[in-house]
Amino acid sequence: MSLLITNIGELVTNDPASDSADPLGVRADAAVVVTDGVVQWVGAAAEAPDADEMFDAQGRAVLPGFVDSHSHLVFAGDRALEFQARMAGESYAAGGIRTTVAATRAASDDQLAAGVARHVAEMRRQGTTTVEIKSGYGLSVDDEARSLKVAREFTDETTFLGAHVVAPEYGDDPAGYVDLVTGPMLEAAAPHARWIDVFCERGAFDEDQARTILAAGAAAGLEGRLHANQLGEGPGVRLAAELGLTAVDHCTYLTDDDVHALRDAGTVATLLPGVEFSTKHPYPSGRRLIDAGVTVALASDCNPGSCYTSSLPFCIALAVREMGMTPGEAVWAATAGGARALGRTDVGVVAPGKRADLVLLDAPTHVHLAYRPGVPLVARTWSA
Ligand code: NIG
Ligand code: FE
Repeated sequence: MSLLITNIGELVTNDPASDSADPLGVRADAAVVVTDGVVQWVGAAAEAPDADEMFDAQGRAVLPGFVDSHSHLVFAGDRALEFQARMAGESYAAGGIRTTVAATRAASDDQLAAGVARHVAEMRRQGTTTVEIKSGYGLSVDDEARSLKVAREFTDETTFLGAHVVAPEYGDDPAGYVDLVTGPMLEAAAPHARWIDVFCERGAFDEDQARTILAAGAAAGLEGRLHANQLGEGPGVRLAAELGLTAVDHCTYLTDDDVHALRDAGTVATLLPGVEFSTKHPYPSGRRLIDAGVTVALASDCNPGSCYTSSLPFCIALAVREMGMTPGEAVWAATAGGARALGRTDVGVVAPGKRADLVLLDAPTHVHLAYRPGVPLVARTWSA
């Protein structure tokens, strides 16, 4: 079955082959042919081949589906009161994670899966077609394993985050908890995960613990990533660069050495501006990173504590308004950048042979995603 999407006023391809001076690879008056979930042809609408079906985009913009490379969707409960208190002047503390751990442990598998389904559907309505989902609110062998099993029902991009905070039972024994994470918990989690992550931050895990956990994960066949430099400067970003990780996430507080290390290692900096919005921390500068030659991704970090948005259009608008990024850079970061952050070449780009994950905007150009913040501009998505 083939589908011709034609009369596209602006097609963002992220395929520099179509114009090497423009990383967004924008084409005007374009068409795309999709066959069995794969892009088969991209070109001028006037030259489009026939297909079994036709969709008229009526001059609107089409983009690659958003690639949300960082979310924590396996949870129960909410922390609206904590948010309310922060907006009244309280500061964000990593310890709030334990509130969600208690609610998550008390929920059934079906309840957890229903929550993930609801949030994935919410993401889809806002243009996200690839999502990474972490565990990290179970913090016991069984609760981490079942969190990842639930996540795997929705995506192959699953991440074991047993090292989110020290589990409440191990409050006096962080070393014992690291032994649990790197031993029986990892063994139970690894079959259901692609990635392993550590919250490397004061109040969570230090550099040595992060090294130990990532090394154990690598030995079990998991690829590493890190939460780092969210609440203050620290060693996490440099550790990610030293280990050559695919991506390091948050990157809110960076020294010049951190920025240079990221550039030299080619590690993607994943910025999560919804977190700064929801915690009142200062926004990181996307401009500084891009100007230094660092690859930047934007992701939601959707979770009930530090950032309860599932909307990449919202994150794009924040990145443009608050982080010095152009609309084009922000859209690239939420599509091709997210794909880089997951080591994926089949998504985040519209080109022959790639997955046909596409977003139609009720707008003439991608700029409207930042120009019209808060407006539901995603008219529909196609997903392989
Ligand atoms: O990515 N930073 C650590 N973990 C989450 C927050 C989790 C929570 O507060 O529940 C984050 O921001
Ligand atoms: Fe996170």
